[in-house]
Amino acid sequence: MSTIRESFPIFQTKSKLPLAYLDSAASTQKPNLVINSLGKFYSEEYSNIHRGAYALSANATDRYEAVRECVREFINAKSTKSIVFSRGATESLNLISHALEDYFKEGDVILVSTLEHHSNIVPWQMLAERKKLKVEFVNIDSEARIDMDDYKQKIESLKPKLVAITKASNAFGTTTPIDSIIKIAHDNNSLVVVDAAQAVAHEAIDVQKMDCDFLVFSGHKLYGPTGSGVLYAKEELLEQMKPFMGGGDMIKTVETTGSTWADIPQKFEAGTPPIAEIIALGEAVRFISSIGFDVIKKQERLLTEEALTMLSSFSEVEIYGPSDISQRAGIVAFNIKSVHPHDFSTIADSFNVQLRAGFHCAMPALTALDLHATARISFGVYSESQDLIQLKSAIKRSIDLFC
Ligand code: ALA
Repeated sequence: MSTIRESFPIFQTKSKLPLAYLDSAASTQKPNLVINSLGKFYSEEYSNIHRGAYALSANATDRYEAVRECVREFINAKSTKSIVFSRGATESLNLISHALEDYFKEGDVILVSTLEHHSNIVPWQMLAERKKLKVEFVNIDSEARIDMDDYKQKIESLKPKLVAITKASNAFGTTTPIDSIIKIAHDNNSLVVVDAAQAVAHEAIDVQKMDCDFLVFSGHKLYGPTGSGVLYAKEELLEQMKPFMGGGDMIKTVETTGSTWADIPQKFEAGTPPIAEIIALGEAVRFISSIGFDVIKKQERLLTEEALTMLSSFSEVEIYGPSDISQRAGIVAFNIKSVHPHDFSTIADSFNVQLRAGFHCAMPALTALDLHATARISFGVYSESQDLIQLKSAIKRSIDLFC
């Protein structure tokens, strides 16, 4: 893992204490391959795509389209027609909530879980307001796990037209039993949207095996650039959906009397896309694939175990999320009694530990556990035990100061 860490220039910066970056759930650091790809593209290869007959444009187009194939392979989609590039998971979810509008009629139900990130709640609430639909919530238990009895009961009684669910919770690290969730939804004729924003850098995704109808993720949580994202959707659904944004590149014809749409996936990629970012996202996908999820998962499991053991050694620390480590992604949320997580994160910063404090864009999830804020650590491929040694010192200092 130390060779992997060396591929990230931010960790080579000299400081009194090594950088303990424990906020990969918010955004991952970037490896040289990704940073260099951005620089090289802008300095030597830059051009718009799908427009020019000249070599620069043709090359840029080829490289952009090659990433579609790279992403297809990465998530095992059947065809590149199912891969739409966006600017992030949030944009992908907003795209679905607009483009699928005609599928709903007044009174229909959308079922989300209480565990969701706001980006997998708010677009559905906005759609519900536009189309007079209802958004209902599946409960979570005291360990922030989906209550499957409640899920089954709500699916059967509410007959939702769509279920929107995360594969891994950003706030508590809970992984959801996604295969069963999708099967139950399909048995009841619901479409399923999977938010894989937290899962995609930590476990292999196979959309065909999962049989989800939609899946979204952001590039910036996958060691890629900000402003890059993916929407996977089954081809037949993309064919039926109306465009999200109108403009150049998404049309077949434009006349004064009206327009017709380009074939999928271009129908959903209006305007100049984030070309450099998508090309660099391809580098990120290749980087992660070259490490392999067996290695990534093993290392994250070890660090999560180490973190849970260290945190449990303090009677002042309360840990949230699943007690069964196999139900956890590499994320641990906790609080130190009588210490506000914002104060703790300031103290942690003085030990060069970067972590997130607050409600993590998941207010309903925290409210369900009667919480307002937590401190949260999350791992990436560069994380190491030294990060936890510094974290431990920060916890000790906070306890000495406040408890
Ligand atoms: N969704 C990001 C997080 O969980 C920002 O921190």
